Amino acid sequence: MSENSKLKGKKVAESAIHDHTYRIFANDLNSNDTVFGGLIMTILDRLAAVIAERHSEKPCVTASVDGFHFLAPAGKGENLICKGAVNKAWGSSMEIGLKVIAENSITQEKKHIVSAYFTFVALDAKRKPCQVPPVLPTTPDEKRRFKEAEIRRNHRFEGLKQIKQSRKES
Ligand SMILES: CC(C)(COP(=O)(O)OP(=O)(O)OC[C@H]1O[C@@H](n2cnc3c(N)ncnc32)[C@H](O)[C@@H]1OP(=O)(O)O)[C@@H](O)C(=O)NCCC(=O)NCCS
Repeated sequence: MSENSKLKGKKVAESAIHDHTYRIFANDLNSNDTVFGGLIMTILDRLAAVIAERHSEKPCVTASVDGFHFLAPAGKGENLICKGAVNKAWGSSMEIGLKVIAENSITQEKKHIVSAYFTFVALDAKRKPCQVPPVLPTTPDEKRRFKEAEIRRNHRFEGLKQIKQSRKES
């Protein structure tokens, strides 16, 4: 399923999440006293599911994660501020981009700690992939993310093709 032009487009703002806030407590830390990465992955997977389902108006499943970058650690006394939005939709799949900012409640200091890109697939009543509305990017950032999502998808397809070829040859 590669085209989604039959459905009316939806704006990014219709499904975006701007500031889901999670307070870090001691039981969220790993043995280095920084936030356990798996906790952040879980939070983002849940938020991405909400965004995908708001955009598609269908039940959605996580198909893959193309990039999950831990850029800096977060620790006790900080809040995780999570933002996410749909970057692009194809046939039945959508890329959801997410960003996490760690904020010190007292000093208000903020740092960008995670960026991640999830692909979700919308399912019909028979749990088969079904068409989703196209994304209508409006702001310069949304237009940049829309373009970059296509690059990531093409890299994934190209990588899979190369792996297939390499397995054939070995
Ligand atoms: C994701 C899933 C629905 C795809 O089903 P499928 O029968 O392989 O579907 P198709 O080959 O027809 O592909 C359907 C879409 O999924 C996309 N897709 C399939 N595998 C993918 C992957 N690994 N990464 C990204 N996208 C993928 C395809 O590109 C296609 O997108 P498009 O319609 O926008 O072009 C299926 O593999 C699945 O159910 N996986 C398990 C999902 C899950 O349990 N997630 C965790 C819990 S939510």
